Amino acid sequence: MLSISFRKTRFPHSLTHYAALNATSTHRAIGKASIRSSSTGSRRTNAIKVRASSNPFEEELCATAKYIATRGKGILASDESNATTGKRLDSVGVENTEENRRNWRQLLYTAPGLGQYISGAIMFEETLYQSSHDGVQFVDILKKQGIVPGIKVDTGLQFLPGTDGETTTQGLDNLAARCEAYYKQGARFAKWRAVLRITDKEGPSNMAILENAHGLARYAQIAQSNGLVPIVEPEVTLGPGSYGIEETAYWSEYVYSHVMRLLNEYGVLKEGMLLKPNMCLPGLDAPSASPEVVAKYTARTMMRSIPAAVPGIHFLSGGMSEEESTLNLQALQDACPDAPWSLTFSYGRALQSSTLKTWAGADIGSDGWNAAQDILVKLAKANSEAQLGQYKGPHPVGIELDRHAPALRTPRLTIHSHSHSRFARSPGPRRRPHPPGPAHWRCRQVTTYCLLSLCNLLS
Ligand code: 13P
Repeated sequence: MLSISFRKTRFPHSLTHYAALNATSTHRAIGKASIRSSSTGSRRTNAIKVRASSNPFEEELCATAKYIATRGKGILASDESNATTGKRLDSVGVENTEENRRNWRQLLYTAPGLGQYISGAIMFEETLYQSSHDGVQFVDILKKQGIVPGIKVDTGLQFLPGTDGETTTQGLDNLAARCEAYYKQGARFAKWRAVLRITDKEGPSNMAILENAHGLARYAQIAQSNGLVPIVEPEVTLGPGSYGIEETAYWSEYVYSHVMRLLNEYGVLKEGMLLKPNMCLPGLDAPSASPEVVAKYTARTMMRSIPAAVPGIHFLSGGMSEEESTLNLQALQDACPDAPWSLTFSYGRALQSSTLKTWAGADIGSDGWNAAQDILVKLAKANSEAQLGQYKGPHPVGIELDRHAPALRTPRLTIHSHSHSRFARSPGPRRRPHPPGPAHWRCRQVTTYCLLSLCNLLS
């Protein structure tokens, strides 16, 4: 016998949505349960709980995510904190003042024609509430360009006690209230970055994976409940080391699978979210891989772990040069021509580095200002062409790739915490998967599954 109970919850799907979008999987689950019952003759009642609720933003979330993932467009990531922006400004001799940060963002958002190639811009909280020098709110400038305003909602990384320097992401406190306020100000999507680290010695620990997957899922749930499309960013970050691309691909697939599992647990609407992952690259001390090899492993990783319902996969550019970011994106389209999602970009450094150097604090409307906007639009256009699989080069700022250049190597770990050394212990018995094999995979899957089930029982 099979009974289905509908439970009214505050999860972000309406019952209609579930019925319409999940009909196939629900029916399959029902079918399986019935067969199992009748073949064993068991009288046990199988209860399948279907979550139901009404999220007034549901249609809007799906439409926004679909729009941002429009083919031929990507995201401009300009959500660096004031401290990080300060370091970037400092590198071109510009003082880190509120006005200079405002001018820099004005240069980006008012670049003529940017909206042809960019569908969303991620902002830091200060920027979301800023206006141009002549008093027009940045959110309105972006909307006029056809660019959806977005907001970084995490508040940075913190060390995880008991690990060898792994991190979790902060920002869940007051998140619902903040999202509500950001929506009122005009933001329509959000970003939360979690960092999972690979080194020569090991991949991320189960604790770090569970903790970060939970944070991403809870954030995505809260963002959707408040009308913001969540960009889920589980960055499997490159550390120094000579491990190969296979290893990055192995750990990326492993991490994304667990993140998707938690997103499912928390009822996150796949059609109303976007993913921001890393491309699969070898360790920083290993020889770099060709775009074809990067694309092969990256496409395989995505095909294995990300549901087709997610409209867009927006890669970050950390660890790649500006030109490499474009070439790898182009190669991805060749490797995966029938991808169900838009394989596209959410680049920060790959769009901003040369733009910033060209600007170097030039006055609004001056030649330096115009030249910098020109570079930004050319870079956005090159990546737009790469998303469409039509990039032929030459690259607007093509330079030899130096994987050891400081700007590319910065691991972007801004930790908001006192020293972690007090808690650090020597790395536990986490073995590297050499070679990553099905037995190792199953063993880790079972361990993590048990931990997740325990968490579910306790919650
Ligand atoms: P990069 O493209 O510079 O890696 O960063 C984008 C970003 O927003 C990471 O969170």
